[in-house]
Amino acid sequence: MNVPLLDLVAQYQAIKDEVLPALQAVIESQQFIMGPAIAQLEARVAELSHARHGIGCASGTDALLLPLKALNLRPGDEVITTPYTFFATAGAIHNAGGRPVFVDIEPESFNIDPAAVEAAITPRTRAIIPVHLYGQMVEMERLLQIAGKRGLPIIEDACQAIGARRSIDGVWRLAGELGWVTAYSFFPSKNLGAWGDGGMMVTSDAAAAERLRRLRLHGGAKQYHHDEVGINSRLDSVQAAVLLAKLPHLAAWSAKRREHATYYTRAFQGLASVHPPVVATGNEHIFHQYTLRVERRDALQAHLKAKGIGNAIYYPIPLHRQPCFADLGYAAGSLPQSERAAQEAVSLPIYPELTHAQLDYVIAAIREFYR
Ligand SMILES: Cc1ncc(COP(=O)(O)O)c(C=O)c1O
Repeated sequence: MNVPLLDLVAQYQAIKDEVLPALQAVIESQQFIMGPAIAQLEARVAELSHARHGIGCASGTDALLLPLKALNLRPGDEVITTPYTFFATAGAIHNAGGRPVFVDIEPESFNIDPAAVEAAITPRTRAIIPVHLYGQMVEMERLLQIAGKRGLPIIEDACQAIGARRSIDGVWRLAGELGWVTAYSFFPSKNLGAWGDGGMMVTSDAAAAERLRRLRLHGGAKQYHHDEVGINSRLDSVQAAVLLAKLPHLAAWSAKRREHATYYTRAFQGLASVHPPVVATGNEHIFHQYTLRVERRDALQAHLKAKGIGNAIYYPIPLHRQPCFADLGYAAGSLPQSERAAQEAVSLPIYPELTHAQLDYVIAAIREFYR
């Protein structure tokens, strides 16, 4: 049997009759740039994030870069984030002219440790970027308290967490609801994926929304009038049409991922070498990834590969140890939880279309390895 890490063809087969007509409508209209599908999608994504404004852009990377640009960072300005994330989180800080300050993660959730954030704040700190990694929200209430005391904006990296939520004081709060600006990615492998690159920012700050709308169009509110220097980062109308057609399925897809996660986790109970992901109290995880911590990780990977089971390491080198950030001066061992996670984590197939036979095959392969 073959179990790929992700099977987008299975998703395509299930929804093509809905997506292809939407795509054809854009083609027939020939309105490829800033067509009506963009504003529709912006409104829908803002709504599902409990935010007032959505601003489409070209990628999740730009959805991080643009709010950072809006902060007008000056050389030496610091932005605190996690090193245990996709490169874009820190790359955007650098490209906006800031200096990434990496702090360690909490071992159970793989998410940034709020206490470490607090300890890293200096007079040069200008913002905090928590990442809702693998689809599980950060402890936002603690982070908001820490940031609020200093008046620091929070940019949520929700590129892996669209629709994730957390119960705070008995109220469901969505990823994208509590930060100043939130970044989403529509990279094809995401829970809500386009047929190419795409991203969106959401915010409830009207002034920020207006500024971000300008910054994504070369810094001008009116064509050929440039109030400041922005970038060209539009969401494509073709992608917006695909995403609008897929959006009604998102909740059910994420629920299916949760169901598969529960199935795996039950099956791995009692295996001493395998630690299933921990869902923090109050969180509703969307399982963009189902990530285990395991012993003898690299040998397990080879075993899974031999069995035809897709798997991946997110992420093998934490960002504070990347060569491009060597001048920031983080030694090996300086952020031990992130470094340990990079050695132990392995992600399994978790896409909604997986069959029980496939799940059982993956479980059997892992049980066989650790027997
Ligand atoms: C945590 C995180 N941040 C940022 C990004 C960047 O998004 P994109 O690939 O759409 O630029 C991604 C996705 O790839 C991500 O997973």
